[in-house]
Formats: sequence, C-alpha cells, structure tokens
Amino acid sequence: MSTLVVHPASRGLEGSVPVPSDKSIGHRALIFAALADGTSRIAGFSRGEDNVSTANCFRALGVGIEDVSKTELKVTGAGLFGLRAPDHDLDCGNSGTTMRLLSGILCAQQFASRLVGDASLSGRPMMRIVGPLRARGGHLDGKPHPKKAGDVTAPLDIRALVNGEFLTELELDSQVASAQVKSAVLLSGLYAHGATYFREPTLSRDHTERMMLAMGVPLQTSGPVVSLDPSGWDGKLAPLDIEVPGDVSAAAFLLVAAQIIPGSKVSIRDVGVNPTRTGLLEISRDMGAGLRVEPQGDRAGEPLANLHAWHEPLRPGRIGGELVPRAIDEIPIACVLAARASGATVITDAEELRVKESDRLATMAGVLRAFGVECEETPDGMRIVGTDRPLTPADVESRGDHRIAMSAAVLALAASGPSKIRDADCIATSFPRFVGTLRALGARVDVE
Ligand code: S3P
Repeated sequence: MSTLVVHPASRGLEGSVPVPSDKSIGHRALIFAALADGTSRIAGFSRGEDNVSTANCFRALGVGIEDVSKTELKVTGAGLFGLRAPDHDLDCGNSGTTMRLLSGILCAQQFASRLVGDASLSGRPMMRIVGPLRARGGHLDGKPHPKKAGDVTAPLDIRALVNGEFLTELELDSQVASAQVKSAVLLSGLYAHGATYFREPTLSRDHTERMMLAMGVPLQTSGPVVSLDPSGWDGKLAPLDIEVPGDVSAAAFLLVAAQIIPGSKVSIRDVGVNPTRTGLLEISRDMGAGLRVEPQGDRAGEPLANLHAWHEPLRPGRIGGELVPRAIDEIPIACVLAARASGATVITDAEELRVKESDRLATMAGVLRAFGVECEETPDGMRIVGTDRPLTPADVESRGDHRIAMSAAVLALAASGPSKIRDADCIATSFPRFVGTLRALGARVDVE
C-alpha cells in the first residue's frame, strides 16, 4: 500500500489541467448504454476503479463493452430484457453507486445474482434500496448490519422473479436526499407494471433523470419530485453518443489547493457544473476564495465550464441545509478550506457523511487534528477553527477513503514540513492521476 509524502508548497500552484471524467455520469452512461437498443459510444470515459467496476459487472451480464481507445468505449446494448445470468458474483469493488444502481435493475430479472464489494462497501447500509425494491416486489436480501438494527449490508442476494411475478408501482417519500436511492428506484421503474413516484427532501444529483429523458423515458420532474409512468412506452432506450464532462468532485481538490496556497493560479478545463453538484463552488465563493466559472455550453446534456482558482484570504463559512446534498462528496475538502479561514466554520445537516466510504466526519476530524487544526465533531457535522499559520506536519491514514486521502494531501501543502498520507492507493478509485496532476501544478509529492 503506497504512502504519499507531500512537501509544503514553497510557491503557488500554477497551470491548466484536465480532471478525470465525471464518475457519476460515467456509471450512468454505461448502465443506460448497456440497457439501450443499439450501439452506444461513450467518449472521455474515466478509468477510475469505480467506473471500471460497473463496466466489469455489465460484461458479466453479457453486455459487449469494447475499448475503442484509452478513453472511448463502444457498448452493444442488450436492450431492457437482454441481460443474461452472470456465472459469478458481481464485484462492485468500492463503488456504492454500482451496487445500489445495479440492484434496481437486477431485482427485475428472471435470473438470480449476487452483488459483493470490498470491506468498506460491505459495511455500508443497503436497506435504503433493499426496502423500496422489496416494496415493489423485488426479492433482495443482505447480511444483518452489525451496528444498525433493521439494516442490511452486502453481499446482496437477489432472487429471480418467477411464475409471472413482476415489479409493481411504487410511491416513495425518501427520508434522505440520495441520488443512489433515487436512481435505483427509477431504474426498477423501467421494468415495473405501474408508475414510480419518488420524492426526496431536497434535490440530489439529477444525472439519471437527465439521461433517461434524453433516451426517451416517460419521466416528469418537478424540483425534488420525479415520476415515471411506463404505460404506453415501448420500453426502448435510444443508444447514446456522449462525451462525459470532467468531474467537478475531482476538480474540487485542485481548486481548494489553489485557493489555500498563496500565489496560486490554476485552471481546470471542461468540468461538468450541473447545479446539483456545485455546492462547493458556492461554499468557496461565500468564504471569499478566488474562483471564476467560465461557461463552455453543454456536453452530454450537462452544463460545462472552465474553472479558474487562486488564493484570497478566507473567511469562515456556514455549511448546511440544501447545500449539503449538492456538496455531499466535497465536505472533506470544504473542511480543508475551513482549516485555512480566519475563524470558525460550522457544518450541519451532514450526518450522511457517516455512511460514505468511511465515516467522513470522524476521519476528517482526525486528519484536521493531526495537522494541528482545532475542530469539534458533532452528530451531524463539525466546527472547525481555521488558522493562517503553517500547519503541523502530520502522518495520517486515509482509512481506504479516496476523498480523505486527497483532502489530507491538499492540507499537507500548507504544513511547515513534509507530511505522510498512508494507504493512498484508494485515490485510484476516482482520480488515478491525482499525484501527477498535483506535480504538474508544481507541488512536490513523493510516492513511497
Ligand atoms: C452518487 C451519489 C451520492 C454520492 C456518491 C455518488 C451517485 O451518494 O455521495 O459519491 O453517483 O449517485 P448518495 O446517493 O448516497 O448520497
């Protein structure tokens, strides 16, 4: 397992760099291409491990996925009813999106399947999808959750629908704003005999809805409410020809690096700026960070922009409410901004972070303290007292969480000596070229 040795930034970060393509959109492009009638082209596909897990699962389900080049895939869709029984367990690796979205499709099939994941994924709560999918007739079972009574974890066993069984209509008022739950429910809705109606507390990322609409699915949206009525629909998904935009969740680490290191000037090209994903841009702007968003039109039905970031003195922020789902993966790196602000930043309404790849509130609080930043964990957030003094060099563990590893690496740039980030291989989950990209901007990072 590799360790990153991050040296303090002796000058500002500078340059114009790309980021990997959007992981969330990449998963969905593969899923919908696999279910389409015809051949799809997916350009700019990320080789991050999570996206590769989704591709491998569909290969095992009989879908033709061909590597046309390093970043382009040709997918021969099986149609909604053309998947075949896998002859081994479907390994979702570290990817919650793969496991939860595939469950929505697999519970509608006339064959059985088993979804497995790595140690982190095998500890995550699955009743949030198992419950709704069971309610419409799916046969899903997991292992009892060791800490939460009534919840289940992977492996997920999905039994076949038999003897004329089918999925029924579903009306769901979700307690959490979760795109994974919403997408699993909508995907199962493609197969259901009856309508799907889903409401969430605030709108979570809407890539599934955008892609379904583009492929001709009879979907209606109104803020945090979405419905799908397949009656009268021919059940055919039009193939895709898309280029996936850059991942704003990957860009976030580079933006914040530039925003906390004096003298920096960093540009990131062709980043997806879907408003359900841009909470961090608003947080950083509210905190006085240097940021310019230069719109570049649309790509794959998603707004695109070049992002420019630089250092400015930071003031503390308040992060809570509807902003949280729109920055759900960016809270760890927002903590890094807070660590460099002139006062106390308060994060609330972020209890979902406790069930991500790690308990991100606890892991991030540990990382901040290791660097000498004062912080206090609360059940649903954190209070972080920022400082502009050089931070204490630290030796920290990622706990196998890619976003914690990258947040710690960015924080280390502001320390007074070299820091170690252990268990850093997990960065390949979402940003395989993270170290190379930081080096291209002038940072000194060694890999041990
Ligand atoms: C994702 C949704 C979010 C996010 C995850 C990707 C998706 O999870 O944290 O990284 O692609 O749908 P939740 O739906 O659990 O909030």
